[in-house]
Amino acid sequence: MDSKLAKNRIRELRSQIQYHNRRYYQLDDPEISDAEYDRLMRELIKLENEFPDPDIALSPTRRVGAPPVEKFATVDHLTPMLSLANAFSEEEMLDFNERIRRLLDRDQDISFVTEPKIDGVAVNLVYEKGELSVGSTRGDGIVGENITANIKTIHSIPLKITRRDDIPVPDLIEIRGEVYMEIAAFDALNHRRLRDGDAPFANPRNAAAGSLRQLDPKITSRRPLDIFCYAVGAVTGISFRSHWELLQTISRWGFPINPLIMQAHDIGECINYYRDINKQREQLAYEIDGVVVKVDSLDIQDQLGFVSRSPRWAIACKFPATQETTIIEDIIIQVGRTGVLTPVALMKPVRVGGVMVSRATLHNLDEIRKKDVRIGDTVIIQRAGDVIPEVVKVVSSLRKGTETIFDMPVRCPECRSDVVRLPGESAHRCIGLACPAQIREHIRHFASRGGMDIEGLGDKLVSQLVETGTINDPADLYYLSEEKLLPLERMAKKSAANLIASITKSKNPTLEKFIYALGIRHVGEHIARLLAKRFPSLPELINASEDDLIRIPEIGPEVAGSLTRFFRVPANLEILKKLSAAGVVPITTAPRHGGSLVGKSFVFTGTLPNITRNRAKEIVESLGGNVTAAITKSSDYVVAGEAPGSKIEKARAAGVVILNGEEFLKLTGNGEKR
Ligand code: IVH
Repeated sequence: MDSKLAKNRIRELRSQIQYHNRRYYQLDDPEISDAEYDRLMRELIKLENEFPDPDIALSPTRRVGAPPVEKFATVDHLTPMLSLANAFSEEEMLDFNERIRRLLDRDQDISFVTEPKIDGVAVNLVYEKGELSVGSTRGDGIVGENITANIKTIHSIPLKITRRDDIPVPDLIEIRGEVYMEIAAFDALNHRRLRDGDAPFANPRNAAAGSLRQLDPKITSRRPLDIFCYAVGAVTGISFRSHWELLQTISRWGFPINPLIMQAHDIGECINYYRDINKQREQLAYEIDGVVVKVDSLDIQDQLGFVSRSPRWAIACKFPATQETTIIEDIIIQVGRTGVLTPVALMKPVRVGGVMVSRATLHNLDEIRKKDVRIGDTVIIQRAGDVIPEVVKVVSSLRKGTETIFDMPVRCPECRSDVVRLPGESAHRCIGLACPAQIREHIRHFASRGGMDIEGLGDKLVSQLVETGTINDPADLYYLSEEKLLPLERMAKKSAANLIASITKSKNPTLEKFIYALGIRHVGEHIARLLAKRFPSLPELINASEDDLIRIPEIGPEVAGSLTRFFRVPANLEILKKLSAAGVVPITTAPRHGGSLVGKSFVFTGTLPNITRNRAKEIVESLGGNVTAAITKSSDYVVAGEAPGSKIEKARAAGVVILNGEEFLKLTGNGEKR
């Protein structure tokens, strides 16, 4: 690969990984499988090694997770919460052993501790004078979310360290572990949720994460959460010689440690452990995704130290992806936002890697033909997406001859319009312009988190709004009123008011989110970001020619053509006009005059009425400024919303300029357009 290609790929991988970090760590809603994520990460690590660049410090390979979301206060971890390097095979476990031996005296005996790798949520528990003071999530590894109230509802987490005569209680200690939900408890929870009409969680990890990040600790307390502790962060007043000793000590203090943790005297024993635990995996009451091997001696751990985001003395050995066998009972069609018809297999429910699955995407007719999938077939499926499983292959030896061959329908199952397949495309499409499925998916995409991010506008509600004819396009959302909403099912005055408030809140998205929300073909979040960087505002993008667009790195004729075509369709321009008339105006992200806020430091406090805090932060950063959580000597502006709290007094005392929401938008050049 030449260096220009490599640079582009590095940039692309970084932004993809950042996106997936956000889905996983902040939204508890991953889109890709852990295996797929690991592949992206490894490709990036490899390229960064071969083609060093100055931006490496900001690369996701140097960071853990994603910054905390805003609904919780933040906590600075006393020592960083690191991640682990991965091994995907026994060979890579041997490589790990070789690596550490090269760094140390070759003949030294090195023994290990081997542990199951729990698939849950990492937490940090701070104990001061033996009492639990703060519990937090990992966040980006440096700053986490303060979830103390929720942590305290987990019964197996001691509120006080159990005193033992032979061990002193440290003045201060950070205990680290993984909060998880048992599979049986997860199944029961999902069962209840389905009964109550709530969306089920995709897997126990998401259920644990979602439960821990409830604003109301009462809800957390009703969720069956548990913990296994496996590490210590900052500690004063006691020291340990080995990891094993550390685990035994915290166990005697009352912290649950995993019963399968063992000592191993060499890498061979670690590999045996890995095989052994993999065999037991399906029988365990909780989900694990591998084993962790750690050098036992803390002295040797110190000698080995860290590389970027992970310790050299430990490795996560991942299990191969799980496969299962089941039967395809039917194949149905889903109509997407662009009219694409996707065949989906409905299968006899089966547990794959701990999660029940009953649907698998079959992608398109070519795929079905290539794999020769028929209704009634026994198939091997693989949980690739951890959310969306796929059919790996048909077990043809189990064919009975009664299986039926599937064909695409000639009419759209939702609107009865013709279905066509354009030359050169693998997809079949519905050509109906008024297809309710397309309108619905289009509006869902528009309102999604990556787009206008309209909170509380769930899939069910969008379906209802479209089916009842209350809205027909995305712009109609901004013309909704209480009278229009109240006749809907399960819609009370309060929920209608909340919905309208969150729709109103979405009126000033960043330009990139706005572009993404439009749902233009081939324009995903990454391309939208490139466009928003290049064009200071929407009109400039609308008027751009194909040549202008192709000049942007990473944008080719296909994307350029799709964009110019989109902005030529009168109906699309009509919707843009309608949006703007309703006051929907994307905020500037590409600096017009260089970064006007370079060197300026902002603090936000209270709720801003006209803009979400994330967007406000994005504006500041796009103009070269930075945002901090606390007021310091170097703060320049405090932007205060409603209920600003004590920061406002601090700001006054420190003589920092205080702005309200309107003044903030004026300062950043977004005010005049409102
Ligand atoms: S040790 C510095 N031990 O896996 C090492 N982590 O991929 C800190 N995890 O962030 C981690 N089980 O959330 C360790 N027995 C175990 C673990 C474990 C699960 C998680 C943890 C960590 C992630 C790293």
